[in-house]
Amino acid sequence: MHEIKESFDVKLAEDEKYYVPDEKYRRTSWIGDYQRRYDEFLADPDAFWNDIAEELDWVRHWDRVLEWNYPYAKWFVNARLNITSNCLDRHVASDRRNKAALIWRGEDGTERVYTYQKLLTEVIHFANGLKKVGVSKGDRVCIYMPMVPEQAIAMLACARIGAVHSVVFAGFGETALNMRITDAQAKIVITADISIRRGKAIPLITIVKEAILNAPSVEHLVILRRRREPPVEMRPDFELDFYELMRNGGADCPPEAMDAEDPLFMLYTSGSTGTPKGVVHTCGGYMVGTYYTSKYVFDLKENDIYWCTADPGWITGHSYIVYGPLIVGATVFISEMTLDYPDPGIWWRLIEEQRINIFYTAPTAIRTFMKLGEAWPEKYDLSSLRIIGSVGEPLNPEAFEWYYHVIGKDRCPIVDTWWQTETGMQMITTMVGEPMRPGFVGKGIPGVVADVVDKDGASVPLGSGGFLVIRTPWPAMFRTIYNNDERYRQYWETIPGVYTAGDLAVKGTDGYIMVIGRSDDIIIISGHNIGTAEVESALVSHQAVAEAAAIGKPDPLKGNSIKAFVILRVGNAPSEKLKKDLMYHVRMTIGPIAVPQEIAFVEKLPKTRSGKIMRRVLKAQEMGVDPGDISTLEE
Ligand code: PRX
Repeated sequence: MHEIKESFDVKLAEDEKYYVPDEKYRRTSWIGDYQRRYDEFLADPDAFWNDIAEELDWVRHWDRVLEWNYPYAKWFVNARLNITSNCLDRHVASDRRNKAALIWRGEDGTERVYTYQKLLTEVIHFANGLKKVGVSKGDRVCIYMPMVPEQAIAMLACARIGAVHSVVFAGFGETALNMRITDAQAKIVITADISIRRGKAIPLITIVKEAILNAPSVEHLVILRRRREPPVEMRPDFELDFYELMRNGGADCPPEAMDAEDPLFMLYTSGSTGTPKGVVHTCGGYMVGTYYTSKYVFDLKENDIYWCTADPGWITGHSYIVYGPLIVGATVFISEMTLDYPDPGIWWRLIEEQRINIFYTAPTAIRTFMKLGEAWPEKYDLSSLRIIGSVGEPLNPEAFEWYYHVIGKDRCPIVDTWWQTETGMQMITTMVGEPMRPGFVGKGIPGVVADVVDKDGASVPLGSGGFLVIRTPWPAMFRTIYNNDERYRQYWETIPGVYTAGDLAVKGTDGYIMVIGRSDDIIIISGHNIGTAEVESALVSHQAVAEAAAIGKPDPLKGNSIKAFVILRVGNAPSEKLKKDLMYHVRMTIGPIAVPQEIAFVEKLPKTRSGKIMRRVLKAQEMGVDPGDISTLEE
């Protein structure tokens, strides 16, 4: 069972502040009247999803929309499809053939444009290349790449032939990468020699080489060689050049007809205990869910240029850079640029230059810009923006106001979207045209039954807090945790009958939902998930550490930061140097996002009588608040 914390009291000052978007948004949006659409969905959920799925191309029609055998769902039963036919071939066969699918901007200013035709051609060649080196349907392929178009090409090529991709964010360190490769038993790792950040080349390949030392499943490394002089050397037979593989692949690669329930990809996310979980998504439902939300939540129109600042290494990039927008047939802008390099105006300059219409980013970025000041965005013409989005962590009212006024110019609706790696698609938001309430994400989108409940699953009254749950299945829901179905069931059994998201939330008097934060031992830092268990195990893998506990502390920019409490092994003395060593060690093992900002050397950690670390007590002590019930504390 997942451990969920006790219910909590909320003292919510109900601020009745709303921003009402211009009437034209509701009149012209795909969603139209939110409530009417929601009621249509409730009246007949199968018909609702059926009609959306009918907008896409299928090889074989489904016999039934949903087979729900709690907690297992089958969506679009017995249907056959290939998601890349919908991302690419469908558009190539239409007026969109010459439309820009991807516009990429590299850090050095290089721009590359892929039309739908060009993208399809490259995906086909690369897919054939993968086949030639022995990748077939069902094989797992790990993709560990920087934000370059080849990353999306590699993902789509896997999907074309039915191989299951497992993208690992290129900021992860060697131990984290090794764990993900070995858990998935990946046959191939696709990577690049370097990634470029703030003008510096970061050697990815050295991390990969360390990570595959103890990964016997790996048969080949495919390397995108970005550095020309001198190009990285390749180990014959084992290492293959990305473009050579592509050149050797033929020009014909019919899309594999996948069962709707065949896996499309897996993506690791942190758990509150143990190692990260390989969240498994399937072809049919994920396609329908990401298509529907891309179209309706972002209200994507034919001529829009859309920019999501996430990295495809996270679920946001999977669903809202690669799959969803391409299924809709949109033009997607991708940039390798960090938000403040070469200067903090770069993102706004890109919006001006590219005439971006829809912009999707994270609260941590918004708060960073707030700190940098309004002068930067004010230098640029942001009038092309129509809708601005947020994802990954709570968009606090101050950040909402700033985003709304300074970036959206009091004109653009904000879609603050709540969802998760596990949900695959956006679930709760304020749909375009609806009144927005700072601090509140909004309500379940048509198709999603979201609620806030107490420990027993009873709906809390309006104006109170509890656990965020989803009551009914949705198409893009994950189907299992790779090789660990028990962990999948926990999501549905923690509070019987519903999907427990692991977040604490408040239901406002108007039914709008405010997400407060995690209810478990996951820390969200700059919108990225890290389990306390992962940080602790990285720390104890250092020879000087006997025991460690990690907690999240509120941070004005990042949402949270990590503080670690460390008990040293006999013979090691606390020092500033050792703190630095430990930070470096965590950076190398998991990656920069998991590095504790503070480390305290302690003699003892608060534990339950059964020996579990009570992080709650550490956190309360840190924050100077009452630790609550400590009757289980050891002493
Ligand atoms: O705590 C919630 C937070 O991010 C968690 C999911 O993280 P991950 O699987 O990495 O996916 C992030 C991108 C979809 C959630 O359990 N979260 C995500 N979006 C929001 C949010 N918290 C508040 N408001 C949001 N809009």
